[in-house]
Amino acid sequence: MKLYNELAEWWPWMSPHTEYEEEASLYLDIIQRYHPDVKQALEFGSGGGSNAYYLKRHFAMVLSDLSREMLEVSRRLNPECEHIQGDMRNIDAGSTFDLVFIHDAITYFTATSDLLAVMQNAKKHLNKKGILFIMTDQFTETFRPETSHGGIDKDGRGFRYLEWTDDKDPEDFVTETEYLYIMKNEKGEIFRESDSSISGLFSMDTWEKLLAEAGFKTTFERIHYTTETGIYYGMIAEQLSAE
Ligand SMILES: C[S@@+](CC[C@H](N)C(=O)[O-])C[C@H]1O[C@@H](n2cnc3c(N)ncnc32)[C@H](O)[C@@H]1O
Repeated sequence: MKLYNELAEWWPWMSPHTEYEEEASLYLDIIQRYHPDVKQALEFGSGGGSNAYYLKRHFAMVLSDLSREMLEVSRRLNPECEHIQGDMRNIDAGSTFDLVFIHDAITYFTATSDLLAVMQNAKKHLNKKGILFIMTDQFTETFRPETSHGGIDKDGRGFRYLEWTDDKDPEDFVTETEYLYIMKNEKGEIFRESDSSISGLFSMDTWEKLLAEAGFKTTFERIHYTTETGIYYGMIAEQLSAE
């Protein structure tokens, strides 16, 4: 997506980190219930580092992402965290952790073989009692077509977007999202861009089976955001070998 590459500098205007405070605290509650003593965490697909901005207050975090530009945005917000560039299917962070956290970035995989590769790579990065927490955007059971908009003004610049997610073919395992962006720079000049993305749509049963194949036992935890009306679940994956 253009948003994670040539338009990445606009990310803090599209999705400011202040909008992540509630979700980060809901994720932290769940993480601490399953592993009260997380000291070192690794995030795959950490993007602008917005969740990490809140989570890093509770444990040290290494942040990883495919996009060099998004890592640059995150470095400005989280200068104390180590940042590494790579694909979550095969990145090697060179260490093991108490927690691997994957937020919405995993939603972009449209093949179960890719999801399995991510889960296996997460397992390689876990200490014996370490846990994997995945917060995908959607499951077949909970998906609803959605239209949203947002963006803010800050430091003399502005960004607004319209986002439309639909499922053109209910028989396939993907959803389609179209974006329109309007940007205003410091001189007041207006630019417009469009963007699009494809996301995977898999059942909770499929996720659970893939996680089992990668060596995890899964618990689905319902997440109640005050700002969202949809139904969301996080997946806590505990290593079978740690039992
Ligand atoms: C919506 S952003 C993540 C925002 C993040 N949850 C936060 O708290 O700021 C999605 C990110 O996924 C990253 N991404 C997409 N595919 C990836 C892959 N295969 N491996 C690693 N990162 C990936 C993109 O570069 C992008 O930065």
